[in-house]
Amino acid sequence: MRERLLAAEKVKAIEWKEGVLHLLDQRLLPMQEVWLTYDSASGVAEAIRQMVVRGAPAIGISAAYGVVLGARARQQAGEDWLQTLDEDMQMLAESRPTAVNLFWALNRMRERLKRLKPGEEALAALEAEAVAIHESDREANLTMAQLGVELIRKHGDGVQTLLTHCNTGALATGGFGTALGVIRAAHLEGLVDKVFADETRPWLQGARLTAWELAGEGIPVTLNADAAAAHLMKTGNISWVIVGADRITANGDVANKIGTYQLAVNAMHHGVRFMVVAPSSTIDMNLTSGEDIPIEQREGRELLEIGGVRIAAEVDTVNPVFDVTPADLIDAIVTERGVVERPTAEKMAALMNRKRLH
Ligand code: MRU
Repeated sequence: MRERLLAAEKVKAIEWKEGVLHLLDQRLLPMQEVWLTYDSASGVAEAIRQMVVRGAPAIGISAAYGVVLGARARQQAGEDWLQTLDEDMQMLAESRPTAVNLFWALNRMRERLKRLKPGEEALAALEAEAVAIHESDREANLTMAQLGVELIRKHGDGVQTLLTHCNTGALATGGFGTALGVIRAAHLEGLVDKVFADETRPWLQGARLTAWELAGEGIPVTLNADAAAAHLMKTGNISWVIVGADRITANGDVANKIGTYQLAVNAMHHGVRFMVVAPSSTIDMNLTSGEDIPIEQREGRELLEIGGVRIAAEVDTVNPVFDVTPADLIDAIVTERGVVERPTAEKMAALMNRKRLH
């Protein structure tokens, strides 16, 4: 299936070309496809904050390239940059708080510097590490897609109707996606009748990004308001809700885009299976439960306006952009290391101690 999956890769959102980071501006999709270029760590931090690039793995990959850009600028300025690079790492770490892939990637870059051999060129080593982070995410997507399809087959026969939330595809990763990767692979295998895409208020990742990605590949996608999800689970013959994650804690709790928790509650009520697909770089074994995950709060303007047009009265707002789904509402967590069904702390620890599959 691997070759067919690779052949189906169409969209890219991150490119590293001749020492410059190119990002597809996700704020403008699907109406305009505009690529922006970055040659500084501060530019990359701002791109993450402003959501030019978004999605947990894509944020981590971009931050790794941001470290390379910061190191190069400091070297060109004649600084003792191995001592001062931490300022760029700190700035990148402050760009968004919830997706742990950001901190995981920065940590990998830091660890790479600690492993420098005498005489090794530090900047070249950092660049190779960032490229490796990017490439390994693509590989992880391929493995998860195959494992997710096996799981769908294990629990049901024939074509199925799926529901997804937010955007977890090529735009959010270094490959063709986590949850959307599983959905793509299932479609290639003839297992998908229809995909419901939640529009994902307020930033509309589902309407603007997921619907665009799926339609572009001829995958039958039907867009629905977030508030329609429970009704669709009752009436729409949905067999799986498949979502991504921004941080998974040691007990299997999952932080993901706001609205995921209510999907899981509704899925449990309606007997719909609930699958989370995420690379192991999204797993934070340092946090015991989802209670400890920092939840990003974004500005109220995202609720008061749509596309810059005012839609609400001048009132107070609350805009948490992630929520936490408790492990006991989750049927399976699919990672490139393997699948954990009915996650518990013991099963998560066993997964993280297991050798990589690729
Ligand atoms: O605010 P965003 O768009 O960065 O949120 C993205 C999500 O919540 C995704 O579901 C998650 O990062 C997984 S992406 C493979």
